[in-house]
Amino acid sequence: MVAPTIDREITAVVQAAIEKHGKNYDALIPILSEINHVYGYIPGKAFHEVRQQLHDPLNQIFVSEGQLYSLASFYDMLSTKPRGEHVIKFCENAPCHVVGGKAVWDALKERLNLKNGETTPDAKWTLVTTSCLGLCSVGPVLLIDDDMYGNVTPEQIPDILGRYE
Ligand code: FES
Repeated sequence: MVAPTIDREITAVVQAAIEKHGKNYDALIPILSEINHVYGYIPGKAFHEVRQQLHDPLNQIFVSEGQLYSLASFYDMLSTKPRGEHVIKFCENAPCHVVGGKAVWDALKERLNLKNGETTPDAKWTLVTTSCLGLCSVGPVLLIDDDMYGNVTPEQIPDILGRYE
C-alpha cells in the first residue's frame, strides 16, 4: 500500500505538471514525461491521479488510466516500472544492426545478465532497446543516461560499463 504522504506528493507532482502543460490532449505526453522525470518512472498511482485531474466534462476531456498506461508503455522515454540508477538504451534499428549491433547487444546482455527491459537486482542497471538515436553513421550506438557511445564493439563493453562503477 502506498503511504499517504507519497499519495499527496504524487497529487502535487501531477497538479504541477498539468498546470505547466495545460489541460488538453496534446499535453498528455509532456505531463507523463514530467512525472517520469520526477520519479524515474511513472508510478501506478500517477495514472489514476492524471485521469482524475484531467477529467473535464465542460471541455470534453476524458482519458482512462488504460489509455495513459498504453501511452506510457509505447514511448521509449517513458517507463511504467522503476528503473536502475543507470539506464542503457541500445539502438535496435537496421543501420546499427548491420554494422555489428547484434554482437554488441549480446555482449551487453551477457555482461549484465539481463534481458530487454530488465533491471539488475542491485538496481544499478536497466537495459532497454530503443529506436534510432539519430547517429546511424556511427553505429552500433548506445546511450547510457545522457552519454552517447558510437562505433561500439563487444570488446568495449566492459570498459564502457566500468566508467559507471
Ligand atoms: S539506426 Fe541506430 S542510431 Fe540510427
